[in-house]
Amino acid sequence: MHTKIWRMAPQELDIKMLQEAAQLLKEGEVIGFPTETVYGLGADALNPEGVKKIFAAKGRPMDNPLIVHVCSQNQVEGLVESIPPEAVRLMKKFWPGPLTLVLPKAGIIPDIITAGLETVAVRMPSHPVALRLIELAGIPVAAPSANKSGKPSPTTAEHVWQDLQGKIAGIIDGGRAGVGVESTVLDLSCGTPTILRPGGITREQLEAEIGQVNLDTNLNDINAAPRSPGMKYTHYSPDADLIIVQGNDYEIKEKLSKILLDREPESVGVMISQEIHKLMDKDFPVDVKLKIMGTRQNMEEITSNLFDTLRWFDHQNVSVIYAESFPQDHIGAALMNRLYKAAGGKI
Ligand code: TXA
Ligand code: MG
Repeated sequence: MHTKIWRMAPQELDIKMLQEAAQLLKEGEVIGFPTETVYGLGADALNPEGVKKIFAAKGRPMDNPLIVHVCSQNQVEGLVESIPPEAVRLMKKFWPGPLTLVLPKAGIIPDIITAGLETVAVRMPSHPVALRLIELAGIPVAAPSANKSGKPSPTTAEHVWQDLQGKIAGIIDGGRAGVGVESTVLDLSCGTPTILRPGGITREQLEAEIGQVNLDTNLNDINAAPRSPGMKYTHYSPDADLIIVQGNDYEIKEKLSKILLDREPESVGVMISQEIHKLMDKDFPVDVKLKIMGTRQNMEEITSNLFDTLRWFDHQNVSVIYAESFPQDHIGAALMNRLYKAAGGKI
């Protein structure tokens, strides 16, 4: 299949191009498009044949449900059974934006979207391209991240191209996705609101709005069965082994220095903050593939560089990557969740 590319700046939408992409969605094709979190792979959420193509293109297990993307709060009403008061408050505060709400589903939602669950995940993205595309298509758009299943999520159209060219009808290139990790998935379908996947909106932000929010207890346990089906699969894996290096600054520096001393030349990658880099020997070995992800003063920047960094190492011919461990509050919760998954728990 020929994969078409449409390029535009988010501030200067090309409506003709978006109409062409929207038309393909309506015809049951799948399209890669930018959101503020990561690139999504969209299809008409109410057309099971179209949605099937998402699973085929990604190689995604059929028991992993999809998020339905909308362009307004009104659009949600037709897709869910009921909207609890907390949902109304959260939508008002955080939509459009990186927050996905799990609500009791309406009968109109096909089983293929929810993998047979009684709930549906909905989100209104804030990226102008995503919003306008959904609006022009006039349909709710089901979209997982637009990567091959198991690989790091795509933060550029180039990433989508690398994973899915020839398998999908088109990709809208709207520049780099800003947040760089996926939306927070919050279950509002029963009991205390529970974060099933930490993401762009933090637990602290949610609690400031609606009070107590739980974290799915199984989230960071590699052997447990999380309530968000997708969280059980290997995720975000670079080709090389990834190992997380924990400790205070001094310990991380000492551990890394020792690892680099004992390394096999040409095979080691390191991903660290400016702060740790400054502590390391001035003569950092030239054969080590080094990625400085940003400063810890700006955890949003480090987070937004994560997936691109993991994908960069796939082109560097390293067999093992060592990653600095970060504090797990605020956006650090989402960052470390992805890093643990990418490492398959290796610390
Ligand atoms: O930021 C994002 O959320 C991106 C962009 C494209 O919007 N999308 C995304 O989709 O990350 P995906 O498919 O990669 O992740 C969806 C997550 C999975 O962990 C899935 O199991 C969970 O949401 N999920 C979907 N529907 C659910 C439901 N009804 N109950 C519980 N978890 C659900
Ligand atoms: Mg994904």
